[in-house]
Amino acid sequence: MNAMEKIVSLCKRRGFIFPGSEIYGGLAGTFDYGPLGVLLKNNIENSWWDHFVTNRDDMYGIDAAILMNPRAWEASGHVGGFSDPLVEDLETKKRYRADHLLEASGHSALGLNLEELNSKIQALALAGKLENSEGTVLKKIGEVRQFNMMFKTQVGATEDPTSISYLRPETAGGMFVNFKNVVDSFHPKLPFGLAQIGKAFRNEIAPRDFIFRLRELGQMEIEYFCHPSKWEERFEHLRTEFLTWMISIGLPESKIHEVEIGDGDRAHYSKRTIDFEFDFPMGQKELAGLAYRTDFDLKAHSEYSKTDLSYFDEETKERFIPHCIEPSIGIERTFLAVLSSAYNEEEIDGEIRTVLRFNPKVAPIQIAVLPLSKKEELSVPAEKIAKDLKKIARVSYDETQSIGKRYRRQDEIGTPFCVTVDFDTLTDNAVTVRDRDTMEQVRIPVADLASYFSDKLV
Ligand code: GAP
Repeated sequence: MNAMEKIVSLCKRRGFIFPGSEIYGGLAGTFDYGPLGVLLKNNIENSWWDHFVTNRDDMYGIDAAILMNPRAWEASGHVGGFSDPLVEDLETKKRYRADHLLEASGHSALGLNLEELNSKIQALALAGKLENSEGTVLKKIGEVRQFNMMFKTQVGATEDPTSISYLRPETAGGMFVNFKNVVDSFHPKLPFGLAQIGKAFRNEIAPRDFIFRLRELGQMEIEYFCHPSKWEERFEHLRTEFLTWMISIGLPESKIHEVEIGDGDRAHYSKRTIDFEFDFPMGQKELAGLAYRTDFDLKAHSEYSKTDLSYFDEETKERFIPHCIEPSIGIERTFLAVLSSAYNEEEIDGEIRTVLRFNPKVAPIQIAVLPLSKKEELSVPAEKIAKDLKKIARVSYDETQSIGKRYRRQDEIGTPFCVTVDFDTLTDNAVTVRDRDTMEQVRIPVADLASYFSDKLV
């Protein structure tokens, strides 16, 4: 098994991630979180929210509706331009993303417009050098065309063009349309940001790489508004904050690569974009993006909604449309980055130990309480210890199988500490605390456990 296959298998076996609607054969591009996965996901989201919203005075959280008035997506340019280049293999009728086919054939699609992409694809097909990612040569290929990735849906009981809406392709839209509401209700001084965590939907031509490219995904996004003259300093500030947060959840800095996106390759709204790429098991790929969206969105929404979205600065008496910097990161890509960088296998006494070295801050379970035997004389104090520790940590209680097997199980789900209650506990009122990473064990009085863990779980 390669690294990705091992991670997929562990996720299923231990209840992190399951294929979506699996008993019906699945649905491509969808996955479900299991009990440990939802904990890890919530911890990632909470840490992002704490870092960017709770611990700052210039951020306002919102939670907007997924369905929006379709005019909002016309204004944002998504109805007209949120598309990927699609090409069909005329023999198998399989559809591919044209840029992915070029990459698989050893060429880059960077900077190419649709026409150039088409000529390159056709030339490669003619020369018998166009391959898909499995190495199959594609000979008869259709014209490359744009495919809009928004999921269309119908709102209400009438089936006519006016009832069409879309599942949002990014959470950003909900923040731009609430800009005025927040200004009018909170009167924030510039610069300030709106922050949101939520679902987005994209009808990807080729969902792949486990939870990397999905059709239903989570996003954590900020739209940070500032005076047009201040965008560069705000961009730099958010760039360093973004990186600091990524490192704080356990992503190794050496695996994060900042890539400046060139003129022809940025989204239609962006004047500058830095992608944060990450060394995933399948290679270096986009984890997050930081975009300077200028006044593109507020201006467009002003025009389409006929609502004034300008800002009046009381101090300078200046009225203007603020410019916007957007740090955006996918929840599942963060999840995969955290999981894949935590994954470790090591040989101990001739056996392979699988261990997820999660940062304790995001680990689904932080402390496992393990009574050495199921006997009541141990389970009663052990349950009491678990109950007390739950006030300061995410705790699980496990009394099944041998202690060695239980340690391995906790290693495999990334629990940083195990607290073992044994027969000596009944006389010395102390427990053994085992460290996941060093496997060292120390004896700690039960009364000191809370203070022992106080600086180890944050
Ligand atoms: N509001 C800006 C925006 O949506 P994006 O680069 O298209 O920009 C932002 O998406 C982030 O969302 C990406 O960096 C990635 O982490 C995540 N993302 C995008 N498409 C995805 C997909 N199909 N599956 C999983 N995550 C995705």
